[in-house]
Amino acid sequence: MCGIFGIVTEKEQRLGPILVEAARRLTYRGYDSVGAATLSGGRIDLRKDVGRVDEVAEKHRLAEMTGQRGITQLRWATFGEPSQVNAQPHLDSDGDLVGAHNGNVVNNVELRQEFMAEGMTVRSHNDGESCVHAVERYIDRGHDFIEAIRRAYGDLQGDYAYVIGRIHDDKLYAIKKGSGLVIGIGEGFTCVSSDLPSILPLTRTIVRVQDGEIITLWADRVELRSVVDGRLIERQPEAVTETMEAVQKGGYPHFMLKEIHEQPQAAREVLHMLAGSSEVETVLERMRTARQVYFIGCGTSYHACLAGAVYFAQLAGRAAIPVLAPQFIPQYLPAVGPQDVGLFVSQSGETKDVLNALQAAGDRGMACYGLANVIGSTLTKATASWLPLCCGYEISVPATKTFTNQVMAFLILAMRLGGRDVKALEAIPELMERTLEETARQVEAIVPWLNAWNDLYCLGYGATYPMALEGALKLKEITYAHCEGMLSTEFKHGPLSAVTKGYPVLFAAGPEDVPLIVSGINEVTCRGGRAIAIGPEDARLRANASDMITIPQASAMASSLLTVLPLQLLSYHLSVARGYDPDFPRNLSKTLTVD
Ligand code: G6P
Repeated sequence: MCGIFGIVTEKEQRLGPILVEAARRLTYRGYDSVGAATLSGGRIDLRKDVGRVDEVAEKHRLAEMTGQRGITQLRWATFGEPSQVNAQPHLDSDGDLVGAHNGNVVNNVELRQEFMAEGMTVRSHNDGESCVHAVERYIDRGHDFIEAIRRAYGDLQGDYAYVIGRIHDDKLYAIKKGSGLVIGIGEGFTCVSSDLPSILPLTRTIVRVQDGEIITLWADRVELRSVVDGRLIERQPEAVTETMEAVQKGGYPHFMLKEIHEQPQAAREVLHMLAGSSEVETVLERMRTARQVYFIGCGTSYHACLAGAVYFAQLAGRAAIPVLAPQFIPQYLPAVGPQDVGLFVSQSGETKDVLNALQAAGDRGMACYGLANVIGSTLTKATASWLPLCCGYEISVPATKTFTNQVMAFLILAMRLGGRDVKALEAIPELMERTLEETARQVEAIVPWLNAWNDLYCLGYGATYPMALEGALKLKEITYAHCEGMLSTEFKHGPLSAVTKGYPVLFAAGPEDVPLIVSGINEVTCRGGRAIAIGPEDARLRANASDMITIPQASAMASSLLTVLPLQLLSYHLSVARGYDPDFPRNLSKTLTVD
């Protein structure tokens, strides 16, 4: 997820150190490239490159940059590979405008073609450059800056925020549409940023920007206008009193809870990115004619592969084999070849087990594609083509938003492969919001008694089976309890012997599997066990289960995805109740680069 920062001061000065520090404080969002631009006295100094903030700052001597205004940007690649030319900020055709954005301009490809046809100089594939040309287009037609931004707003589709400035001027301009943007007001300067951590070391007086607002920044004041009609908007500045740590966690006590609540927005973004993506078509084209399709991953990512295989069969009539990456080698490698396709799934893109399988599969000529969150990671470089998860940085060790977006990506692939309309998935982000809201208290209600147990099961069937495995993994990772995830029908083939009075068994129930789940529930309750059903409101579940956590009514595929949200919340609250830090569980690492 990109981050932008802009500052306007009274007179030319060394802005480099301020820009580098602002960039450092946005690194938590994840990035692959860094850039900075300063403007003063009829001159724009632009320096940018791929790499970490400190590397780029040293290589391009960013700290030495001077100007009356400055912009810095951290880029998280979505349009265009991580490269110097695709890094931001970007210039307009004749180099007198400079700007940078955060977010996704989803009609970027079409816009670039229009700009080139109109004779503009388009240097990169990045959509941040499209924001600059979209403004340039109207300035060149004689409009003033605010009017140019208003007209560009009509051309730029998607969710984004950008900051932009012009050589012969003393101001910066910014706009917010869907991505975060905050203004800072200090002594002799004003600034604007994607997020507070880069503003708070400079000033604690801020103005929160809302969608559809254009900002003009002078050194001593700011002005907000509506993009719709250009009218002035009055908003009083506010003082931020929270600590920096609290601000970074967005007001949540832990990153995990913040990331759980970011899931609906992340789902919206992956839908935007993949619903019409030509990269997806490339992967699907190859899958259509493949002899065999494999989904390969580890841990949470493997659970997404399991869900993917269910969706592929049910929505596209295509069989796919989900497999744990290390087991792919003994179990399938001798049988694969160029007629087969593998989709390698990994949040980090660096898991050694996954990279080993990828290397081995590639050596046998298999067509290898990636699904990853960290763009620029080894997986994205070593595959023929890869699809982004669009989650931004996931800090907490237990994966949450990256899991649901992996599942969303599989739903999109399956729908497109099956020739179905992906519009049907657009209801999911709002259903996720409702699920988080409606299950929070229900989950908290079972925490006190569940906390007494150190041993439990989490069961599911069909599309909820992978969710049960994922819920069990979350519970294991951060509560340190032994929680086994299992197919509900397998429970009677052995584990049932564990059931004693009050023994907890969680059931994730899909709307179409209720009769089967009810049987499983009764096998537990008739032996004195306590069965907790997680599913849409259903009289049969309510009559048979000991406890019920209700999720909103939804289609079978969406419903399965929703069941994992209360399981994430449950593991989070149990972990906190036990006095553990859910963000950094003992013995575990977010990225495992060892065999
Ligand atoms: C580690 C992490 C897990 C993760 C797994 C796969 O074990 O602790 O949370 O699911 O690696 O990671 P990947 O980055 O490949 O999805």
